[in-house]
Amino acid sequence: MSETGGDKPLRGDPDAGRVPGPLQPSAGESLTPAALQRHLRSAVFGHRIFYYATINSTNARALELAAADEPEGGLVLAEEQTEGRGRRDRVWCSTAYLGIYASLILRPAIPAPRAPALTLMASVAVADALNELYGIGARIKWPNDVLVAGRKIAGVLGEVRGAEPEVREMVVGIGVNVNHAAADFPAEFAASATSVRLEKGAPVDRAPILAGILEGFERRYARLLKDGSTVLLREWASLSALPMGAPLSVEGPSGRLEGVFTGIDEEGALLLRGRDGEQHRIAFGAIVGSLLR
Ligand code: BTN
Repeated sequence: MSETGGDKPLRGDPDAGRVPGPLQPSAGESLTPAALQRHLRSAVFGHRIFYYATINSTNARALELAAADEPEGGLVLAEEQTEGRGRRDRVWCSTAYLGIYASLILRPAIPAPRAPALTLMASVAVADALNELYGIGARIKWPNDVLVAGRKIAGVLGEVRGAEPEVREMVVGIGVNVNHAAADFPAEFAASATSVRLEKGAPVDRAPILAGILEGFERRYARLLKDGSTVLLREWASLSALPMGAPLSVEGPSGRLEGVFTGIDEEGALLLRGRDGEQHRIAFGAIVGSLLR
């Protein structure tokens, strides 16, 4: 596996998402399959839903389902994750009922090096949906962090099974901080995280956000498979938190590199011109220093 639960799909069952027990949503309604379907405008993505009150990780479950031949578009959705995974072996804080914790199964039949473009695409779909719905100025920090005013509001984790030259199955996991108050984040994230609620000053309904993300992702996915990544790269650049030419430091597989940002390529790798004037391509890593807008 590489980075890039009730087990039946709950399509159309209005009671499917009713969650018994002590957990109570702090704002709005539960993000049940029925609630999501009231807002869903996608043709396929998110119509087969595997919904859990609590699960270890929606990505882990989606990978299992993909291995068991679940078709493209299946969505694993949870109210809470006990082992939410972040990029680079980090933990994703997944407090019950406050966020969106969802993983989409894809079968893209693209060369494996192109898989990261799909996680970039998910971050574009998330930022775009948040901006369309709430006008909060969400931007993307390479590769897939969604930020508002420099604070993280959402993250994307793409995982691919196997090591074939073509991607046969892939899972794109999306985590969005929606109804978190400042005190809901662990102390170490207090200064670096935000939520839709904090940005808007009021709790919001999670279902239209997830529906918007799924519709935007599906539309871009169809275009990428048909026409290639030109439009996606343009959109990503227009949402980039880092302007072209901005100085930055990147922690990549071969250590830290400093230079200026010169864009991303069609496989989603970051391009950096080093102090020596040389062009570097960083496929995996993280920005550790920059002036974000
Ligand atoms: C990151 O920014 O580090 C990526 C965070 C991805 C979190 C989501 S929440 C739903 C899905 N399931 C997981 O275990 N992780 C992703």
